[in-house]
Amino acid sequence: MEVTYKVHREDPENGGESSFSTYQVDLPEDATVLDGLQKIRDEQDDTLAFRASCCQGTCGECAVRINWRAQFTCTTKIADVTKKGPEILCAPVRNIPVIKDLVFDMDKFTWDKMAAMKPWMEPEDEFAPTENLIPESEMADVRKTMSCYQCGLCDEGCAVLPVDFDFLGPGAMVKGYRFVMDPRETGARKEERLAVVEQPKGLWDCVHCYEANGKCARGLEPSSKIMEMRDVSFKHGIKNEKVARHHNSFINSVKQTGWLDERKLVMETEGLTNIGGLMKLVPTAVRAMTRGKMPGRHEKRPGADQIKRIIEKAEESK
Ligand code: SF4
Ligand code: FES
Repeated sequence: MEVTYKVHREDPENGGESSFSTYQVDLPEDATVLDGLQKIRDEQDDTLAFRASCCQGTCGECAVRINWRAQFTCTTKIADVTKKGPEILCAPVRNIPVIKDLVFDMDKFTWDKMAAMKPWMEPEDEFAPTENLIPESEMADVRKTMSCYQCGLCDEGCAVLPVDFDFLGPGAMVKGYRFVMDPRETGARKEERLAVVEQPKGLWDCVHCYEANGKCARGLEPSSKIMEMRDVSFKHGIKNEKVARHHNSFINSVKQTGWLDERKLVMETEGLTNIGGLMKLVPTAVRAMTRGKMPGRHEKRPGADQIKRIIEKAEESK
């Protein structure tokens, strides 16, 4: 089967613009995209850089965008990606500094963010002299997240990372989930663990687009895991001070008047004694005023008392 590979080329260390190189490759029908890249490197261009390790879809090393969709090259059959034509485009995954061609910076993309999750167990008490037995029912979900490939396909699909690369991202959050939900960490240690995932650019910066759920090669539903950790955080009391202020302002406003006071929400989230933070809001407030977008008077709505009772009931049942 004759296939045309169009492969992203870039060599930031030696300067120069990024470009695409085109290669004609003859491959058997059942070949994978990785087979083609290896054949190109062996027979046509030994300067081509790409990553692969296990060659069986378990290490996550070979993730690239194939025809603009992030996938593993080692498990993607050329027959599946050439249905619309004989051309296969290979580009590095989005949002990450490229080291060379299809090889991207795994430290910046994944490892630094995983390390920020403090991925090791720290039980509050002394280690038991025997095994620490845990019922399977409590461990099953945690164990599933342990099978994360750390491939970063979920981060590749994330809606926040293209605008804020410092966001920890769903891949690191899945690692955080693995420890937040582990029944062996309890008490003060559990609270510390929640503070880790709630750090700025973490749990609360997810915009719940749910894109990561559809990208995960292991079906771990990273977006849903983020939302589950938020539920746990609500139960334990939000650790991120700014988010806690936002949450409290929102609830108090709706409880008092039946609807959200947006002006108050913005100021109370920033902190009423945080003069520097409040000053930063001034240009936005001026723009809103000049464009007639500033919310008007905030008066109590009919039915507000009923809404208050609903919220209180929900709070009691937590
Ligand atoms: S959560 Fe899924 S997509 Fe994200 S790094 Fe782990 S295996 Fe890869
Ligand atoms: S080489 Fe390991 S997943 Fe592709």
